[in-house]
Amino acid sequence: MGSLNAEPLLSFEGLADGALVEVEAVLDGDSESLVVHRQGDAVRAWLNVCPHAGRRLDWAPGQFLKSREGLLVCAAHGASFELEGGQCVAGPCRGDALRAVAVEVRDGQVWLAAAPRGEA
Ligand code: FES
Repeated sequence: MGSLNAEPLLSFEGLADGALVEVEAVLDGDSESLVVHRQGDAVRAWLNVCPHAGRRLDWAPGQFLKSREGLLVCAAHGASFELEGGQCVAGPCRGDALRAVAVEVRDGQVWLAAAPRGEA
């Protein structure tokens, strides 16, 4: 208790523009794999879980496929996700979306965003 967010997920400076990086984070007490994406000054993160069949998106830890169009492609069956909202735009789960995880950049580091107040 109380140690949530005590450590940053990773360094913002070390995250190349356009990069897709895997990090482990503790969410609601469970360790989860996340995919973190930087686009310019923006950083987004999603659970590293494909909405199609629940598989990891990477083909080896931290190795994500990116299409020529800049889509994140699930290594299992090829579902393709745009990297703004995590929507699946092609493949077996088209119309579904990755589960977003709120992150923020502070002091040159990427952190899990503070949990919203009043959550159940
Ligand atoms: S589990 Fe990702 S496309 Fe099937």
